[in-house]
Amino acid sequence: MKIRRCAVVFLEPREDVAFELESLLAGGDGLRRDRRWLALAPHIGEEVELDAAERELLGRLSPGQWIEAGSLDADLAPALPRLLAEGLAVADGDDATQAGWRQRDARLREVHWHPLGATLHAFTRWEGVDAVQNSKDSRAETAVEMRQVLGAPPVEAATRAEDDARVALPRIAPNDFDRLLARRATCRNFDPARLLPFEAFARVMQRVFAAQAEVRVSDDTVFLKKNVPSGGGLHPMECYLVVQHVEGVAPGLYHYHATDHALEPLPFRATDAAGGSEDGIDGRDGDEAIAAEPAALRRFVMDMVAQQHWFADAHVVVLLSPRFDRTFWKYRQHAKGYRVVALEGGHLSQTLYLSATEAGLGAFITGAINEKQIERAFGLDPVSQGALAICGFGWRGPVMETAELDPAGEVWAPAAS
Ligand SMILES: Cc1cc2nc3c(=O)[nH]c(=O)nc-3n(C[C@H](O)[C@H](O)[C@H](O)COP(=O)(O)O)c2cc1C
Repeated sequence: MKIRRCAVVFLEPREDVAFELESLLAGGDGLRRDRRWLALAPHIGEEVELDAAERELLGRLSPGQWIEAGSLDADLAPALPRLLAEGLAVADGDDATQAGWRQRDARLREVHWHPLGATLHAFTRWEGVDAVQNSKDSRAETAVEMRQVLGAPPVEAATRAEDDARVALPRIAPNDFDRLLARRATCRNFDPARLLPFEAFARVMQRVFAAQAEVRVSDDTVFLKKNVPSGGGLHPMECYLVVQHVEGVAPGLYHYHATDHALEPLPFRATDAAGGSEDGIDGRDGDEAIAAEPAALRRFVMDMVAQQHWFADAHVVVLLSPRFDRTFWKYRQHAKGYRVVALEGGHLSQTLYLSATEAGLGAFITGAINEKQIERAFGLDPVSQGALAICGFGWRGPVMETAELDPAGEVWAPAAS
């Protein structure tokens, strides 16, 4: 059997600190501190605790050169089975588990991730997180509570020169564009009873996500022009949708086709959405019913946005899902690659906010998302295609039940809030 190390792995010396009464009673600080070594390998996506022998063997194996397992030193050989079982070492041969790890490791190599970017992305994904409960538990939900619990934040506008050294700029009278910008506010109050007209939906999609033109270099190499900038002009961001309340569109999951300006229906399986399915991406069945039961769909949206109920009734929920392999095709193992992709989410989000605002709609973005449930439901392999952020848009409701930031009263009349 030939073996080698997986392509990317970082080791973290982790300390866990927990309250311990015995320590307090014995005159200590009341804390128990446990230290261990964790292997973080992005193709695995779960931490693997290692003992000293496993750590040593991992350091001896080459990620590039295959060697005979039998050639390992006798003192290190006993550590091999565990590294193989966990996917930190990979082997040739027909064994199904080994073939699975080999395939995942190979996929990571093919996508040309920068090792740190891959590791950051893989280990900051959530599953089953309730951000609302976490915020309640922190007892720092409102701005006033935050000040009490966290102390004062860094100053709101940084200063680098004395008042009299500043070059004052004229305040220019607002025009229509300024008025549009002023009406943009993150919407946390959607009106699910009011259907979004098909045309309004189509217009927002066209402005934000559609290809506006293209440059065809050859049959297999095409660059798109969109209404947002993109690193290398590669436009890696795919748009997946949960359509909930749009006239003429069956509630359900969709992929948006950027050059055809069309919706591609995807199956919705409540088990995937709830995180209860063991089926991987390959276990999806194309014949499944497309139509989704609205209550189950809403529960899935709640899971997507980590239980932020103020987003759950958005008419259209948008997953910003980068195809890392497209950007990293050019920016191979590039130190800025992941950052560039993340920045693109901001460009799309702001364009979505402004397009929605112009249409009289509200929009939002959240980074507090349960990526793992999202990946399962949409059939995304996180090594090549991730879940970066969730946006959404639709009609605002008549009453502000969850706070929106509208200090100038541009969006809400005083009575409504
Ligand atoms: C990247 C990003 C992530 C955000 N995540 C959340 C979120 O998880 N929940 C939420 O209610 N708002 C979220 N927001 C919205 C901000 O809270 C909001 O932009 C901010 O309070 C300023 O309000 P405004 O957008 O109305 O000007 C996010 C905004 C950005 C840019």
